[in-house]
Amino acid sequence: MKSRDTRLREVYVWELPVRIYHWMNALCVVILCVTGFLIANPPAIMSGTEANFSFWFGKVRLIHFLTAFVFLFNFMFRIYWGFAGNKYAGWRNYIPHRKAQFKELIEVLKVDILMLKNKPVESIGHNTLASFIYFALFLAFLLQCLTGFGLYAQMSKAFLPQLFAWVVPLLGGDLAVRHIHHILMWFFILFTLFHVYLVFYHDYIERRGITSSMIGGWKFIEEEVAEKEEEEEKAAAKKA
Ligand code: HEM
Ligand code: HEM
Repeated sequence: MKSRDTRLREVYVWELPVRIYHWMNALCVVILCVTGFLIANPPAIMSGTEANFSFWFGKVRLIHFLTAFVFLFNFMFRIYWGFAGNKYAGWRNYIPHRKAQFKELIEVLKVDILMLKNKPVESIGHNTLASFIYFALFLAFLLQCLTGFGLYAQMSKAFLPQLFAWVVPLLGGDLAVRHIHHILMWFFILFTLFHVYLVFYHDYIERRGITSSMIGGWKFIEEEVAEKEEEEEKAAAKKA
């Protein structure tokens, strides 16, 4: 029987709102990519004239637009939770600005990307490189909402889309905005492929339960790492 004798502590990292956000967002991105891809490349069957087929394309667009609203409100909720949630969900983690964060960023590059070292980086929430990539992804989500609702403002007189009517003229017209919106879809597809691979890879190498942490919230952290963080927290609380 294989086993390891490292002492591990259960740490509650991802609160329920972060987990709900994550899975709602993942589902929306999949639906928006599939329907967006069909809008960009409609198969011939969608323009059929038989009664059963005639409104396929309309339904695809309707699903795209309805999902877009869920995607926007879910994203707005995550922005709020970056201020209201626990320290792992806070926005301070996503934008490197402290010396220790830059040090960890270089360390992750050495271990995960350049493979110069094979000692895993011991962070409890996201590591600094992952956080920074999520931050870039959040900016891309913002741009996708701006371009999407900008395009939608040309088709809907409703209040919310009309708030984005300035986007299309500002970004150089309908074609340019469609290009940006389209290219971002490929960014999300590539991100998802790398993201899922890396989550499973880290789970396999580190064995800290990273995949299931986005389901139940808990990670298994080495006792010394958890203790070190607790001490740093106490020291910071004393200073404040
Ligand atoms: C089967 C599919 C997926 C699995 C198993 C998965 C798993 C995970 C896990 C375990 C984390 C936390 C990593 C850590 O603790 O450092 C995470 C974070 C994240 N994932 Fe996924 N993910 C999936 C699909 C997606 C998709 C499709 C997207 C969107 C394009 C996405 C976007 C994110 C984002 C933005 C975060 C950071 C969450 C936050 O800090 O609020 N994931 N994912
Ligand atoms: C993950 C997010 C999203 C993805 C991957 C995505 C993808 C796409 C793609 C690939 C197209 C076709 C563009 C072209 O080549 O002409 C499209 C069209 C469009 N999308 Fe999105 N989209 C997303 C989010 C949104 C959001 C938030 C809105 C806001 C309402 C939106 C509204 C639209 C509109 C209005 C069109 C044009 C529809 C038409 O002309 O029939 N999208 N989308």
